[in-house]
Amino acid sequence: LSTGDILRLEISEKTEIGKLAKSFIDKGELVPDDTLLIMMNNRLNKDDVKTGYLLDGFPRTITQAKGLDLILKELGHKIDSVISLFGNEDELVNRLLNRGLNSGRSDDSIKIIRNRQEIYRNQTFPLLNYYKDMNLLINVNGVGAITDINNEIVKIVNKYA
Ligand code: C5P
Ligand code: MG
Repeated sequence: LSTGDILRLEISEKTEIGKLAKSFIDKGELVPDDTLLIMMNNRLNKDDVKTGYLLDGFPRTITQAKGLDLILKELGHKIDSVISLFGNEDELVNRLLNRGLNSGRSDDSIKIIRNRQEIYRNQTFPLLNYYKDMNLLINVNGVGAITDINNEIVKIVNKYA
């Protein structure tokens, strides 16, 4: 479940969440935590997640992580593992600029990418310690060939399939 994809769908369908989210996404900023949590609570209450799921791009803040813990508790779900992909910032900028050539994403431009990285450092990076303390964190090297990185992630996910 890619939170970014869910948000972009909300935007294309011009929902209330989509209208609110667009201004933040276009600037490379995070959509407010309460909006994200309402949206993910709705998503995780659908039938298709009953056999398990992988969350991509969520949570992005400590508040979201704590909110997610409450949502999961209510549902009787638990987190098996948290995967952190680590990469070199300049290499990541190049990848996103490349993706921007075809993605049509309003936020794959140099200024916005740098802002997203800054926000990652300030708001998302602290999550690594949050999940490390819960003994859930697995670090995966995000630099290298896509197939190798993919295999590494699939190996981890398969442990819980
Ligand atoms: O994950 P992705 O890069 O597709 O997310 C795109 C944008 O969606 C982020 O830059 C941010 O503006 C918004 N987002 C968010 N909170 C999340 C996931 C995505 O605000 N948990
Ligand atoms: Mg994404």
